[in-house]
Amino acid sequence: LVLLSGNANRALAGRIASYLDLKLGNAIVERFSDGETRVELNENIRGRDVFIIQPTCAPANQHIMEALVMVDACRRASAKRITLVNPYFGYARQERKSAPRTPITAKLVSDLFTVAGVDRMLCMELHTSAIQGFFNIPVDHLFSKPVFGPYFQGRDNLLVVSPDAGGAERARAIAKYYDCGLAIVDKRRDRPNESAVMHIIGDVTDKDCLIVDDICDTGGSLCKAAQALVDKGARSVSAAITHPVLSGPAVERIAESCLTELVVTDTIPLSEKARNCSKIKQLSVGELLGKAI
Ligand code: R5P
Repeated sequence: LVLLSGNANRALAGRIASYLDLKLGNAIVERFSDGETRVELNENIRGRDVFIIQPTCAPANQHIMEALVMVDACRRASAKRITLVNPYFGYARQERKSAPRTPITAKLVSDLFTVAGVDRMLCMELHTSAIQGFFNIPVDHLFSKPVFGPYFQGRDNLLVVSPDAGGAERARAIAKYYDCGLAIVDKRRDRPNESAVMHIIGDVTDKDCLIVDDICDTGGSLCKAAQALVDKGARSVSAAITHPVLSGPAVERIAESCLTELVVTDTIPLSEKARNCSKIKQLSVGELLGKAI
């Protein structure tokens, strides 16, 4: 087994390696002076089972290219099997034509990984499971329930909330785990990265609500949903969201929101600003990914 890391999340790669009691393989992953990606493997991987740890988080284009170039280097160095450990799948939200004359970028990225020579993908909490079908190679899709589950265990009066209709299945699985009720926020989006909460399906009065989602990007969906729940009589609102994209005004929005706590994982590293936000807590998926490897 050989573990290699790109530059997207070396801290997570280190946690996976230490769980597996392995050292990360010796590979240079950097950029040439003009910005092109430079990869050089400094050890023999002929006939080895190689795992490349590289969430394709922001800057997604750069991290996708790093992953592709690393895969190419491994294939040309005669690796026996190449698994891309991509816990945050960049571009996953563009998985269908949402309007005429728009691309399906998640499919394009899937094709690029396949063409480069990936034999197996390991992903976490994909925006939609249908992305598995974009590949003709095995795609292991892990869920963050084993990480979030114990954290909120034992809190009575809990009500799990999906911040939109699309996330209802994910939220239902968590509600089932806690054996509690489920509510759904009917979110309507006028423009990308802008959300408007319309109404809440379910009774949230005096409940300690737990919003469950795959991604917190600009924080708009989350903070508006939290406010709508409080307005409808919720006692408190926390959130468990796997991928902390946290772009633009997200951290400020969360800090100023009525949320008690936002628990995320380390599929994406936190910025310093996010680490300093007392409402944001990060749990590691290192062990979960280590077990899957
Ligand atoms: C959308 O369908 C996703 O599940 C997230 O709810 C969304 O990407 C969050 O985006 P933002 O934080 O920018 O509102």
